[in-house]
Amino acid sequence: MSLVIDNIGELVTNDEGEGVGLLGLRHGVAVVIEGERIAWIGPTAQAPAADARIDAGGAAVLPGFVDSHAHLIFAGDRAPEFAARMAGEPYTGGGIRTTVAATRAASDDDLRRNAQRLVAEAGRQGTTTIEIKSGYGLNVADEARSLRLARELSDETTFLGAHVVPAGYDPDGYVDLVRGEMLDACAPYAKWVDVFCDRGAFDEEQTRAILQAGAERGLGLRVHANQLVAGPGARLAVEFDAASADHCTHLTDADVAALAGSRTVATLLPGAEFSTRSPYPDARRLIDAGVTVALATDCNPGSSYTSSMPFCVALAVREMRMTPAEAVHAATAGGARALRRDDIGRLRPGARADLTVLDAPSHIHLAYRPGVPLISTVLHDGVPFHPATHP
Ligand code: NIG
Ligand code: FE
Repeated sequence: MSLVIDNIGELVTNDEGEGVGLLGLRHGVAVVIEGERIAWIGPTAQAPAADARIDAGGAAVLPGFVDSHAHLIFAGDRAPEFAARMAGEPYTGGGIRTTVAATRAASDDDLRRNAQRLVAEAGRQGTTTIEIKSGYGLNVADEARSLRLARELSDETTFLGAHVVPAGYDPDGYVDLVRGEMLDACAPYAKWVDVFCDRGAFDEEQTRAILQAGAERGLGLRVHANQLVAGPGARLAVEFDAASADHCTHLTDADVAALAGSRTVATLLPGAEFSTRSPYPDARRLIDAGVTVALATDCNPGSSYTSSMPFCVALAVREMRMTPAEAVHAATAGGARALRRDDIGRLRPGARADLTVLDAPSHIHLAYRPGVPLISTVLHDGVPFHPATHP
């Protein structure tokens, strides 16, 4: 089955080249898809014949968003905690334990339905790849179950047994459990391991022990780093060649320099600062230093209950002084880099046919028209996205 998309007002390819800028913008071109992959991009008049056609109507076409950081396996919500924060309470991460209790009490079907609902919600907003973490089970059985359910919905699954120390454990005993029996039970369903290295969560030594154990099991590494306070997280992410240091809200100059000299992506999660009413990370400082930046939602019931990449793009532009082009790049190619993938996040022959057609002529509208549903068509693996049937 082949498909041609033509009458494209602006194609964001993220493919570098002469005079096309960060986004690899192209005009007057058509995209031909064969099965799950992009087969051809070139001048519309030369497009090969295809079985079906999408007329983009002069709208912008972008790679699907790559949301490289989400916590979707949970039960319940924490609306009262959010309301209390908006009335002046600080965010500490302590509410994670509330969600752990609800998650442990939920059935597989309840957890599955909730995660499916969020994946579909994200898909309607243009997300075609979403990373899913465990981290609300925090015992062997519930972490393994969380990852088994996550794996039904995404290949990008992350073991976050080291989210917080659950009630009833001494911290070092819990770290031993995470890097031992829990890792053994979870590794078959996980591609990545992640540690919340921050005040009130895990310290440098504990983080090292867990990252080391995960790496020995062949998992890729990610770190929740420097969200609440400056600390060792970002530095450790670089030292361990983690794919991503996530949050990066409180960084020293040495942290920025270390990230700039590494393959580790700084994944910024402005939904968390929005929903915890905290200062945003300094994206300009990172970009100007040469750090690769990704944007992701951090979708979770506590610190950032949004599944919307367009919302994060708008926040990044308005609140973090990223240009619209930088924000769109970070939400697509940046996310792909944070997952160490080169088959997504850009549109070129051979890439997966994951893309969105906007109800707007330019990518700039994603920030210029905040809160407006601008995603009109989503293709995932070359197939139109229907919330009822996806994933
Ligand atoms: O990325 N920081 C740690 N974990 C989540 C918050 C989880 C929660 O509050 O439930 C985050 O913001
Ligand atoms: Fe997170």
